[in-house]
Amino acid sequence: MPIHFDEERGLLYLHAKNSTYVMGLNQNHLAHVYWGPSLPEEMPVHSPVWKLTEMMGSSMSVASAGSLWRTLDNIRSEYPTFGSGDLREPAFHAEYADGSRATELAYVGHTITPGKPAIPGLPATYAEEDAATTLTVELADAVTDLHVFLLYTVFSELDVITRSVRVENRGKETVTIRRIFSASVDLPPQKLEAVSLFGGWAKECSPSRVPVTYADLTFDSKRGHSSAHMSPFLALLPPETTEEVGSVYAMSFVYSGNFAAGVYKDITGTHRMYMGLNAFDFGWRLDPGERFDSPEVAMVYSGEGLGGMSRTYHELWRHHLIRGKYKYAERPVLLNNWEATTFTFTEDDILAIAEGGKRLGVDMMVLDDGWFGKRNDPTSSLGDWYVNRDKLPSGIDGLAAKVEAMGMRFGLWLEPEMLSPDSDLYRAHPDWCIHTPGRDRLEWRSQLTLDLSRPEVVDYMIDTVSKVLDGAAISYVKWDMNRSMSNIGSAGLPADRQQEVPHRYMLGLYRLMETLCQRYPDILFEGCSSGGQRFDAGILHYMPQIWTSDDSDAIERERIHTGTSYVFPPETQGSHVSACPNQVTKRTVPMKTRCDVAVCGQFGFELDLNRESEEDLAVCRGAIETYKRIRHTVHTGKMYRLASPFEGNYTAWQFVEQDGSRVVAFIGNTLAEAAGGYTVIRFRGLDPEARYRDDIGEIYTGAFLMNIGLYERAAEDFGTRLITLDRV
Ligand code: DGJ
Repeated sequence: MPIHFDEERGLLYLHAKNSTYVMGLNQNHLAHVYWGPSLPEEMPVHSPVWKLTEMMGSSMSVASAGSLWRTLDNIRSEYPTFGSGDLREPAFHAEYADGSRATELAYVGHTITPGKPAIPGLPATYAEEDAATTLTVELADAVTDLHVFLLYTVFSELDVITRSVRVENRGKETVTIRRIFSASVDLPPQKLEAVSLFGGWAKECSPSRVPVTYADLTFDSKRGHSSAHMSPFLALLPPETTEEVGSVYAMSFVYSGNFAAGVYKDITGTHRMYMGLNAFDFGWRLDPGERFDSPEVAMVYSGEGLGGMSRTYHELWRHHLIRGKYKYAERPVLLNNWEATTFTFTEDDILAIAEGGKRLGVDMMVLDDGWFGKRNDPTSSLGDWYVNRDKLPSGIDGLAAKVEAMGMRFGLWLEPEMLSPDSDLYRAHPDWCIHTPGRDRLEWRSQLTLDLSRPEVVDYMIDTVSKVLDGAAISYVKWDMNRSMSNIGSAGLPADRQQEVPHRYMLGLYRLMETLCQRYPDILFEGCSSGGQRFDAGILHYMPQIWTSDDSDAIERERIHTGTSYVFPPETQGSHVSACPNQVTKRTVPMKTRCDVAVCGQFGFELDLNRESEEDLAVCRGAIETYKRIRHTVHTGKMYRLASPFEGNYTAWQFVEQDGSRVVAFIGNTLAEAAGGYTVIRFRGLDPEARYRDDIGEIYTGAFLMNIGLYERAAEDFGTRLITLDRV
């Protein structure tokens, strides 16, 4: 049974594929007992840190023996609240009508149901009834009649437990929620390190690994979007855990706005790991009878190091988060004009670029920024979503028809969440932007954020985007978002609800995306935020792929794709071949290298192919063929990171078909090695007995590839090798 209540011992067991999570009832307090490798239920779970009776002897609780709530500071808590006697980092903090802020949550009951309920208004993982089971634990505060429901879904085929929290105000007074984390886990005393992903524009997803010390270590975003500065992901692991060996406890947030994740290590060495909405500048007024749902955290336990963690996340998102027509379908190889033209183009230019793609075998032409209003640079027209006929005399419909007549499909760039001060929309609705009354409206890339916390603005954008999509044969949308939120405030909300703006914005954004995805099920949506500034599981619920970075330099992409793969699979990562010298790094790398890197993601082009040499075009043509041959393995297989560009001269990724029939390996080096040794790339996860034939007919056994490996010596700067091995 995936979820079982041992009534006699008061233990709630959640069994995922190879891991177990246990909670315990300590009188009416819900304690955290265990999270780790599978635990048979026959084993007694005696834990001095969650059982009150065993705590009574401890010196720390002697003073207040007899009162459970006064001793919670040294008990492992499942959902710690402020004001309960647990003085460590709380998961929940609320303010009541009389000014008090204490919440004491006592167990009321629980239910176990097959499948997984949706979270109203929010993206979340989903599962068939036989793939997951959900536990809902009801807790209540006797004084205020606030009821808190902790939801846990355990996936039977994955080492995943998702968590979210629902709060219902059944009292008579208004409550203001100040903090509501979605997950908090008290890991027992041990040495742990924290792995997070940091970065910024054109530098997304660099892994960081630091020891956890006696402090509160927080990773968060206050930018109004998840951002690349710190990704909404956190893993804790003992120092001895490696890429493929050892325990990892990970959390990833299914949310695209402000978040906080962290670990609080106390004097006992207990690690409280948490993740949820950022409590900074957050408040949510909950009137009597109202409920609040927190976004979901997906928790992964891996006994196979960071690689095992990543493979579990990849499977979770693939099968239980991404939806729609393109969930499993092969997606078009696209050609985007942005890096070739930026804002300066005519219809003829776009058709010529499309023609170049057509000759090569590209499936889709995507028109990027600059097609609407009077937008010839970033200073105007966001919000004015009507075509600029000076540039495109046949309109978007005419252009799309011409592209379709060439035998390609057509895609369009939009930035629906923004408006330019120089736009008809802003002139008509100056209050429709996020702003603080009486202060300057801080522009960023000359633009302001549309106030999607206002339902009428969301409705307007649903209509506006629908008109664009109804007006032409559009098969794909690149949904961009190019600024962080500042001067946070909304003209649509009263003073005591201003701290709700960032979360209400996200709810508005998700309604906008959900409505459009339902209305246009055949359109492929790609998320983007100046590259990967909002690469998170929230967006992936609506859009199955995301533009990974504005840095399309292949060498940089080796790093960015490695970091992104910690949480997200290759098919979610928009990955294009661009021109050299690269627009961001000014670096020139061989076309083969650019292609080899790009085919390991969601492949496309970002250049005017008419400007490339015949020799390079032949490489690109070959890359499309290679991509189509290997994409099933790369997009549905298991990924192993064999060598990290963050640690040395080499990047190596290995993708293995789920049934082991094909292996694709990418090996890239940064600099040539003048003389001396070799670098050994050892494969992983293969059947040692199996025999594999490579592209030139060499046969290797799985044992050879895993134990002896391939000896690599970099002959040139920025070299790559792409190897396909088929089981024979
Ligand atoms: C930022 C995106 O990341 C780019 O690819 C491009 O679409 C520009 N915005 C257009 O303004």
